[in-house]
Amino acid sequence: MQKYTLFLLFLLSVVACKDKPPIEEEIEEQPIEANYNPTSYDLSIPDLLPEMDIPADNELTVAGVQLGRHLFFDPILSLDSTISCASCHLPELGFSDPNTVSFGVNNATGTRNAMSLVNVGFFTKGLFWDGRSQTLEEQALLPVEDHLEMNEAWPNVIEKLRRHPDYPAMFREAFGVEFRDEIDRSLATKALAQFERTLISGNSKYDQATRNEIFLEDEEVNGQQLFFFELSQQQDHPGCSHCHGGPLLTDNRFVNNGLDSVANLNDFMDKGRGIVTGNFGDNGKFRVPSLRNIALTAPYMHDGRFETLEEVLDHYASGGHMAENLDANIRPFTLTERQKQELIAFLETFTDESFVNNPNFKSPFD
Ligand code: HEC
Ligand code: HEC
Repeated sequence: MQKYTLFLLFLLSVVACKDKPPIEEEIEEQPIEANYNPTSYDLSIPDLLPEMDIPADNELTVAGVQLGRHLFFDPILSLDSTISCASCHLPELGFSDPNTVSFGVNNATGTRNAMSLVNVGFFTKGLFWDGRSQTLEEQALLPVEDHLEMNEAWPNVIEKLRRHPDYPAMFREAFGVEFRDEIDRSLATKALAQFERTLISGNSKYDQATRNEIFLEDEEVNGQQLFFFELSQQQDHPGCSHCHGGPLLTDNRFVNNGLDSVANLNDFMDKGRGIVTGNFGDNGKFRVPSLRNIALTAPYMHDGRFETLEEVLDHYASGGHMAENLDANIRPFTLTERQKQELIAFLETFTDESFVNNPNFKSPFD
């Protein structure tokens, strides 16, 4: 009798085993064939730019950056394989989007203009227009599951990556995982962050002039004087550098630059920083964006409301809309047509051709 039960159990277990999909078992159990031999990636930050804060548990490696670059350009991260990070962050446009608001899976539209990712590794006071994400690793989790963006679930993405013919080896080379089931979202977002930290721009005409390698044209020099504020200068001055100063061309604060006319601070359509802090006084404040490659990243502002730099200058010259928390440095100034062109000529010196044409920042699939 006992023998018979044992035999039955044995039979049952054979049947149970047969029920498991054998391919998956094979995939999960075989060690990944690839070598783990990490070489650190040399960021070579140009003089004048600050040091970059890199998390101790995500040092850059050549294989990590390569993996991140593949993930960044691969629509595999989206529900129907139509959208990659690069669909909204186009490398040839300084990793920004020419659409006013970006289109996600099924043409869903968001409410904000995609930000440029130029020098994004230096921004450690909060990412997004409202600063709601602290690190690039944390940020990279969000677009995948955002219904208006990639509209996919991380467990599905991870399943697709584990079964992929190439990614397991790349994960092994980057992070030393032995088995496919060690591939997870934390490693995927680490790789994306590594790639994003390499997106450094510091060789624009403006940088070259600052390093005394070239001279700016007279028109550009005049524009530079309109851009940079000096204490001796009178009030009637654009003074863009109050906020867009320093080597990164932003002071990374959250301010209201007067875009919207509101009866009170609760009336902002998009409350911006106020959504994150919950402080009434932060409603309508947005992060001061860097102006690097600004000539390439139209349309402008968090909602892409301005098509051209002329429109941006008209906004600032008007002094913006009054509000309790309007920044003190937003006030009307006069700008002749000629000065406007000079200021724009200076803004165009922020374009970094070597960044935009860097083959390492292009899709690895082309
Ligand atoms: C459907 C369009 C879309 C897709 C796809 C998309 N983004 Fe974005 N991205 C945006 C928009 C819009 C913002 C600004 C959103 C906001 O401020 O609320 C943004 C902001 C960011 C920022 C913040 C930059 C800064 O300076 O603060 C980073 C970093 C970023 N995206 C990386 C990624 C990565 C990595 C992926 C792929 C995993 C991705 N994005 C996919 C539209 C997109
Ligand atoms: C008081 C701080 C402040 C001053 C002064 C200032 N800006 Fe800005 N700037 C901002 C903020 C904040 C934003 C983002 C606002 C938003 O989208 O809601 C911005 C956005 C921009 C943008 C759009 C960037 C993008 O990626 O969409 C441009 C271009 C710009 N500013 C140029 C200038 C110029 C040129 C001047 C001088 C005439 C100037 N700014 C003066 C704070 C300032």
